[in-house]
Amino acid sequence: MSYCHCRATNQQFNERSARRDLRRFERRGPDASTRQLIAAIQAYPLPPQPAVLDIGGGIGVVHHLLLEWGFGRAVQVDASAAYLAVAAAEAARRGHRERVDFQHGDFAVVAESVPMADVVTLDRVVCCDPDYRRLLDAAAAHSRHLVAFSYPRQRWPIRAFVAVVNAVQRLLGRAFRAYVHPPAAMAGVLERAGLRRRWVGGTWIWAVELFDRPV
Ligand SMILES: C[S@@+](CC[C@H](N)C(=O)[O-])C[C@H]1O[C@@H](n2cnc3c(N)ncnc32)[C@H](O)[C@@H]1O
Repeated sequence: MSYCHCRATNQQFNERSARRDLRRFERRGPDASTRQLIAAIQAYPLPPQPAVLDIGGGIGVVHHLLLEWGFGRAVQVDASAAYLAVAAAEAARRGHRERVDFQHGDFAVVAESVPMADVVTLDRVVCCDPDYRRLLDAAAAHSRHLVAFSYPRQRWPIRAFVAVVNAVQRLLGRAFRAYVHPPAAMAGVLERAGLRRRWVGGTWIWAVELFDRPV
């Protein structure tokens, strides 16, 4: 992700959309694909009190729920300052603010300053970044055990929807674009980094995959 794209992401994911996402989470809980991603992590044998690195965690749904379930610590790195602020306020409201570190930036750029974690999550994040290779490579390098991620499926209605969204963005003069990346190429990045696919699931729109590091 270039500096420009990171700035576009910061503008796209603003305070208004963060507050809307939080209200929706309060009303309905996690979306179906996020629920699956969390359940797949919970089903995997991990050391006690594991740490999660939530890349592009948005309002922090994944780490809020994993910390309440038994994770010890979390780090969220996010390109949106507004989402980080809402996630931090929600962490404080839930009583686990001191167990979460928040860092603003494009993960691929700030990765060197971020500690490794047992589990790395990227829930609906690769679709915001033109350079999925760099992002997933950096994510894999930070994972001791698992990488769990979700992405839009390559179905034609989904590709058409993304094309329309991007056309509207262009008309409105906004720089942010969404992407439907090739699943096999994304898996290839993680496999070349020494991970193997352990579980696949998802909804009609979102695929969810879990990769682990063989011992
Ligand atoms: C569609 S939202 C998903 C938020 C949350 N994970 C969820 O599923 O509800 C994408 C999030 O990823 C962040 N993001 C996108 N590209 C990123 C990158 N390269 N590094 C860090 N954060 C990124 C955005 O700022 C935004 O908060």
